[in-house]
Amino acid sequence: MILFAGDIHGKLNALEQIFKDAEANNVEAIVQVGDFGIFWPSPVNKLEDFFNSIKIKIPFYFCDGNHENHSVLDSEHQRAGMPDVVEVANNCYHVRRGATVTIDGKSILFLGGAQSYLGKKDTPFIYEENWWPREIPSKDEFDRFKKAYGSSDIVVTHDCPSFMLKHQKYHKLWSKNGVPQFLSHTVSESSDHPKQWFFGHHHEHEHWNVDAVDYYCCGKQGESWLFSADKCVKTGIRLLK
Ligand SMILES: [Fe+2]
Repeated sequence: MILFAGDIHGKLNALEQIFKDAEANNVEAIVQVGDFGIFWPSPVNKLEDFFNSIKIKIPFYFCDGNHENHSVLDSEHQRAGMPDVVEVANNCYHVRRGATVTIDGKSILFLGGAQSYLGKKDTPFIYEENWWPREIPSKDEFDRFKKAYGSSDIVVTHDCPSFMLKHQKYHKLWSKNGVPQFLSHTVSESSDHPKQWFFGHHHEHEHWNVDAVDYYCCGKQGESWLFSADKCVKTGIRLLK
């Protein structure tokens, strides 16, 4: 069983909620779909301390979202020799874009990254202080994802394919850019597809079946999906503080 967790945005109480759910359901691993915020925007925050002090040893994997400190994540990979998975805190693993990791017997393909919405922000985006151009995947990262797509059991991305945007209640205007367009193109070009696709960014806690693929938006700040071979159910609660 795997817990797929929605956007955490650096909130410690949301991370604690997710671990409580994971422990109560005896999951093999937690997979978080980006906008985790462990080093965002400051490299120092309480999430790293949480992993280094927690007694529950459930592995926690995440892809990056747009709201991440990409400078820290990139330097962690460079320091380790560019592995697909790097441990950035105790039992907390960042997965590179386009990498596949086997978790609980499933091959899971990851693609972090998304374009930030610049329309109505109270806080201005400041270059490499709270916004990074690396939020958008490179051509090599896109290519690697596309090559592995058809042979994956499960896909995990931060954004969603463009054909899924019409289902989003709040963020229909978001992401009309290269990332969802690329994801949509990848789906249309492939004859083989994963059975499940988990994503974040849009902050909804919903499920849709489109062309025999189950798409799950993983919610926000404590919300998640509990996935096993025969079912996938909503769990967690949204914590606003
Ligand atoms: Fe996001």
